[in-house]
Amino acid sequence: MQLREMNLDDMDEVMRIEQSVHAHPWTRGNFTDALNSDSVCMVYENGEEMLGYVVLLPAVDELQLLNISIAAGHQRKGMGSRLLGEAMQIARGMNIRRMLLEVRTSNVAALGLYCAAGFSEIGLRRGYYPADNGREDAIVMECVL
Ligand SMILES: CC(C)(COP(=O)(O)OP(=O)(O)OC[C@H]1O[C@@H](n2cnc3c(N)ncnc32)[C@H](O)[C@@H]1OP(=O)(O)O)[C@@H](O)C(=O)NCCC(=O)NCCS
Repeated sequence: MQLREMNLDDMDEVMRIEQSVHAHPWTRGNFTDALNSDSVCMVYENGEEMLGYVVLLPAVDELQLLNISIAAGHQRKGMGSRLLGEAMQIARGMNIRRMLLEVRTSNVAALGLYCAAGFSEIGLRRGYYPADNGREDAIVMECVL
């Protein structure tokens, strides 16, 4: 497995994964905006295929985890944990000691991943996300690295 920077040539595959694993996926524009910003956008691959990706936004002394996704056929094999571990290493390499994220209250898989990695709940944003039936709350989580 290897980690490399995402680029515009990855967009078709990133969008294929994004649309297949999220009920409310990012748009292509969200990813291109991230690529054109200060965000750190990384692709995780095994030489043959893309396994997943992560988008991180550094803000002074914090790193916000904006998106982490593993392709449907590769989930529950420890890839998400490894990719999150790589993201934490990136943060440490930038001398950042705190990671933050928001997660849907219904996202059991992501909540399990983050708790296992040492994140803890520090707040709730009511109605933060669009949902099929109105809005959904976000749990705010942090991890001190
Ligand atoms: C969240 C996600 C990245 C996890 O990736 P993954 O490779 O499947 O996760 P791992 O195999 O490393 O699992 C790590 C831990 O997460 C939890 N977990 C992962 N999938 C789970 C599921 N479907 N149900 C419950 N817990 C789950 C477990 O605690 C798991 O540890 P365990 O296997 O020892 O029980 C993946 O499910 C995904 O891409 N989901 C869609 C995108 C998304 O919701 N991203 C997060 C918000 S941006």
